[in-house]
Amino acid sequence: MKTSDAAMACPDNKTAADLMAILPDTAQVVDGHLHIDDVDMVALAREAGTAVYVMSEPHIRKQLQDYRKWMSYHWDDVDIVYAGKAFLSKAMARLVADCGCSLDVSSGGELAIARAADFPPERIYAHGNNKTTAELAECLDAGIGYIVVDSFEELDRISKLASQRGMEQTVLLRITPGIAADTHDYIRTGAEDSKFGFGLNQGLALRAVRRALELPGITYGGLHMHIGSQIYALHSFAAAIEVMVEFMLQIRDELGVDTCLLNTGGGLGVAYGVPDDPATIKDYGKVVVDGIKEACEARGLATPRIAVEPGRSVVANAGVTLYTVGTIKEIPNIRTYVSVDGGMTDNIRTSLYQAHYEAFIANKADQPRSTLATIAGKHCESGDIVVSNGPLQSAEVGDILCVPATGAYCQSLSSNYNKQVRPGVIWTADGAWRWVVRRESYDDLLRCDVG
Ligand code: LLP
Repeated sequence: MKTSDAAMACPDNKTAADLMAILPDTAQVVDGHLHIDDVDMVALAREAGTAVYVMSEPHIRKQLQDYRKWMSYHWDDVDIVYAGKAFLSKAMARLVADCGCSLDVSSGGELAIARAADFPPERIYAHGNNKTTAELAECLDAGIGYIVVDSFEELDRISKLASQRGMEQTVLLRITPGIAADTHDYIRTGAEDSKFGFGLNQGLALRAVRRALELPGITYGGLHMHIGSQIYALHSFAAAIEVMVEFMLQIRDELGVDTCLLNTGGGLGVAYGVPDDPATIKDYGKVVVDGIKEACEARGLATPRIAVEPGRSVVANAGVTLYTVGTIKEIPNIRTYVSVDGGMTDNIRTSLYQAHYEAFIANKADQPRSTLATIAGKHCESGDIVVSNGPLQSAEVGDILCVPATGAYCQSLSSNYNKQVRPGVIWTADGAWRWVVRRESYDDLLRCDVG
């Protein structure tokens, strides 16, 4: 074991019962097994196969309902726009629609999934800093509610496409408020630093609004910002909101136009580890809505319709990944590698962002995590690690290993590296489970290989 690791890590003797804060609301330990929605995860893994993502449908529904409840508690004109990039499938799109929420799509592919699920097009917001002309045409032809515009070229393209079709497209303009948040703090950055949106420096954002007002085929629908993701510090949102509302005032003063929709993006952080203590949806709702209302009142502006775009906080803790332990390699005085039947192809977040994950053995869920292990994937990279030197129950080949909090940005960032077939996604509810995305097969790998 490296000295630094040895000093930092130690078995914590926690059982799965101590990890409930990062598991779905409906998780329980029953006879030593992890259960979610009254489904035994060990039996499920053995029947459905591993690696597999399992998500609790009631947990996702509750998160969306909480957003609606706590945002509209403070202001009745709100729109909860689920960010599909966190996890999207037809079932997810239907659930979002069913909960009365809207959908953020960030590519033609996400739009295609929304359309395949018959998602109401008027509730779709399209994002991207470089939407292709084909993608913009798909948005217009689908009749989506809002295109969130990111550049002058895009404005011109939409105007042309809309004019050709004899229609008007409502747009929001994405503004870089000059506030970049990280997990626990925020820093101001120059607008020039971002590939997204229009900076407020040098009057670019105001020019964009003016252009949107002038161009044929375009209706100015309001403003958008997104300051970052996995944010714990709510004051970052408050600071950005002040900047945006000040800009709304400038738009009214200089262009004589009221901004009737302000979309403050996503970003609320979640707990990946036991000590993590993110803000609640309730607190977030208050900061966003009260922040906008107060900033508007102070400037004599009418409070606009308010939209937020949560992704991670809706699905992250709804999901777990189940793996089977395949090999265990104890390197004396160094570390123990517990290798599983997945890895960086189903969860790139550890190697990409040094993200922290916990792990436990689903068939020993009531036993203490009395050892230390590095959970390694099966791929041809040394960096293919899911958990680096974390506490774990004593592992044996054939154990079902569970990694919590993998519902967001794991399946959506998955890959076929090493020609690994991607895991499927199972949803649980009320004692039952079903596939919402099936596991890939070798035929799927060969489907596009026409050589
Ligand atoms: N709206 C826009 C315009 C966004 O770009 C994003 C995320 C969201 C909403 C949703 O943000 P959330 O509530 O999920 O934080 N792959 C990274 C996260 C990238 C987030 C990109 N944009 C990760 O795995 O941590």
